[in-house]
Amino acid sequence: MLVNAKDMLQKAREGKYAVGQFNINNLEWTKAILLTAQEQNSPVILGVSEGAGKYMTGFKTVADMVKAMIEELNITVPVAIHLDHGTYDGCMKCIKAGFSSIMFDGSHYPIEENIEKTKELVKICAEKGLSLEAEVGSIGGEEDGVVGMGECADPDECKSIADLGVDMLAAGIGNIHGKYPENWPGLSFETLEAVKGKVGDMPLVLHGGTGIPEDMIKKAISLGVAKINVNTECQLAFADATRKYIEAGKDLAGKGFDPRKLLAPGTEAIKETVKVKMELFGSVGKA
Ligand code: 13P
Repeated sequence: MLVNAKDMLQKAREGKYAVGQFNINNLEWTKAILLTAQEQNSPVILGVSEGAGKYMTGFKTVADMVKAMIEELNITVPVAIHLDHGTYDGCMKCIKAGFSSIMFDGSHYPIEENIEKTKELVKICAEKGLSLEAEVGSIGGEEDGVVGMGECADPDECKSIADLGVDMLAAGIGNIHGKYPENWPGLSFETLEAVKGKVGDMPLVLHGGTGIPEDMIKKAISLGVAKINVNTECQLAFADATRKYIEAGKDLAGKGFDPRKLLAPGTEAIKETVKVKMELFGSVGKA
């Protein structure tokens, strides 16, 4: 069932668990995540970056594929289709394409501009029934081989954005996209507590879910995180299983080169990764 992310995140925050956002890249990814959510009776958010949207030929293709798949696979658990780290233009395109949720990432703008643009999108999303995620304090990650440490958001700026009426807020707390470097100091719970103190009941979003130790995930949830984004971990699992299949020479045996066979172990590996995350986040059985 395609829904926006409002209710599922409110329930998660109240019930002290988190809903996973798993990013999709193609049909196999989408199918694996939807089937796992249904099997685990868990709500789920499908994340689509602007790059992945372009790769899949455009946001309309993605939205229509997800909607058709929900219908044809009889997916009854709540599913949101969500733009990840959107630009203002990207947000507009996804609203038009039929997404149920968007993230506007204005974290690289001066705070006044982030507030102005987020405010406009709050209005549009309210009119059209979409949920909206905003970001304060940019999330670190690898760019051109250099791993930037995640910023820690200013709690007062978080309050200014939360008060605009967004549905969920991504605040940088030292988290990073991709693999964490050896010398990563861990999440800043001090920042998370300070943000939570200012924004109250607003569901908080933890980006960079790949590789965060389990105890930190649990503590983050206890401090108000209600949505956790995972992308790289599914990619690593998919690549690992696919490499093993090819290294074992299975693509050369019989019709093992058939893409439906070649991509099957990777698809199963995504399912397993998503299942383990849903268990850790506590969303199993919460649909
Ligand atoms: P990872 O790729 O580190 O799991 O982060 C995903 C994410 O935060 C998407 O916005």
